[in-house]
Amino acid sequence: MTRMARLELPNGTHELPILSGSIGPDVIDIRRLYGEADVFTYDPGFTSTASCASAITYIDGDAGTLLYRGYPIEQLAEHSSFMEVAYLLTEGELPTQEELDRFVYTITRHTMVHEQLMNFYRGFRRDAHPMAIMCGVVGALSAFYHDSTDIEDPKQRMIASHRLIAKMPTIAAMAYKYSVGQPFVYPDNSLSYTGNFLRMTFAVPAEPYVVDPVIERALDRIFTLHADHEQNASTSTVRLASSSGANPFACIAAGIACLWGPAHGGANEAALNMLREIGRPERIPHYIARAKDKNDPFRLMGFGHRVYKNYDPRAKVMMATAKEVLDKLNVQDPIFDVARELERIALSDEYFIEKKLYPNVDFYSGIILSAIGFPTSMFTALFALARTVGWVAQWNEMIGDPEQKIGRPRQLYVGSPRRDYVPIDQR
Ligand code: SDX
Repeated sequence: MTRMARLELPNGTHELPILSGSIGPDVIDIRRLYGEADVFTYDPGFTSTASCASAITYIDGDAGTLLYRGYPIEQLAEHSSFMEVAYLLTEGELPTQEELDRFVYTITRHTMVHEQLMNFYRGFRRDAHPMAIMCGVVGALSAFYHDSTDIEDPKQRMIASHRLIAKMPTIAAMAYKYSVGQPFVYPDNSLSYTGNFLRMTFAVPAEPYVVDPVIERALDRIFTLHADHEQNASTSTVRLASSSGANPFACIAAGIACLWGPAHGGANEAALNMLREIGRPERIPHYIARAKDKNDPFRLMGFGHRVYKNYDPRAKVMMATAKEVLDKLNVQDPIFDVARELERIALSDEYFIEKKLYPNVDFYSGIILSAIGFPTSMFTALFALARTVGWVAQWNEMIGDPEQKIGRPRQLYVGSPRRDYVPIDQR
């Protein structure tokens, strides 16, 4: 028996079905609302709107819960690997050893990019932001692969998905190499996914490069923490772009563009820059005051979240990883102390408590990435590298959803009613 929501409007009472998922809030199915009641719902920013049915990731913002295909992020960060999580998110189940080996073999053999793609880098200035390069080069992949863009064919969709997951590290590493004027380093298929990325980024032809297993494990865990996050802004961008049947590589480039924003994936770069600007714990109260000042656009980057009104579970894992990496590298980075003190003060401040502003995934990640040796400008590129797994999983789910159709929101029109054209000599 379908439960119904009753909507009382001036033009009558309308009954709307209530749909339930496996866990989490019910939804009111408003698909018939405009046709029956001649009204739209109004929800800028989609704070109360479910855009789709999905089985990939579940977030409970009040409880601080994050599940990938039902598995808690804390358990996956501790026991799994980014490649296993990539399989889980794209295929829906944890793999057997044989399935995982086959998946890793497939991804490993898609890590090289077409030699022509290198010419795209040479079109950029050396100081181009890596995210500008990622937008351009990933979008350019749509010009290279015509054998995996029949999106109605699940096999071709999976080839395109594997190509994207496999090539993002190569493309990101090449963006870094280009920015520092060093030669590109080809993939080495004898290394792990994350080890290969570290080598392509930091190796130079002049000497051998040995992957540090502690750094490899920490970065692999960071990729896992960033892999997917329900219908966030960049994932919704990929879904909306893909809903028109557009080329998958171009749609992922659209997701990269959205992720770049400082309110979204760009926050890790902004958070580290903020910590550096604060510089010393005694300067924290000044910045807390600025964050609370309604007339000051300044916000504490790395704090707050649209969904988490409790601690972002990823931030807890990230903080522990930051300590592990700094200890291993014997890095005495004062901004880690600034971060811990900022977190302590913010979490005891009435404003942040009342607005439920906790550290999010971006608060500590920059400290780790900086300690490993990545420049701040590469932080969001690494976020995009990891989130490509979630984007392709969500893309496949949407294209395979019989209910999916081109996304086309409506509006509340507040402009001028109809009026006639006025010739210029009469204005
Ligand atoms: C990511 O959606 C996702 O899942 C994203 C992500 C993912 O994995 O894909 O989790 C990754 O994007 C994490 C968020 C990274 N962004 C930042 O750290 C930037 C700083 N944070 C803010 O910009 C903000 O918290 C947002 C954008 C993250 C969320 O903003 P909301 O939900 O739209 O909330 P809001 O802007 O309406 O803020 C609510 C109140 C406001 O005050 P009032 O208008 O109610 O008086 O809290 C205040 C805000 O002014 N506020 C902050 C603040 N964040 C919100 N005040 C100071 N510092 C902050 N960081």
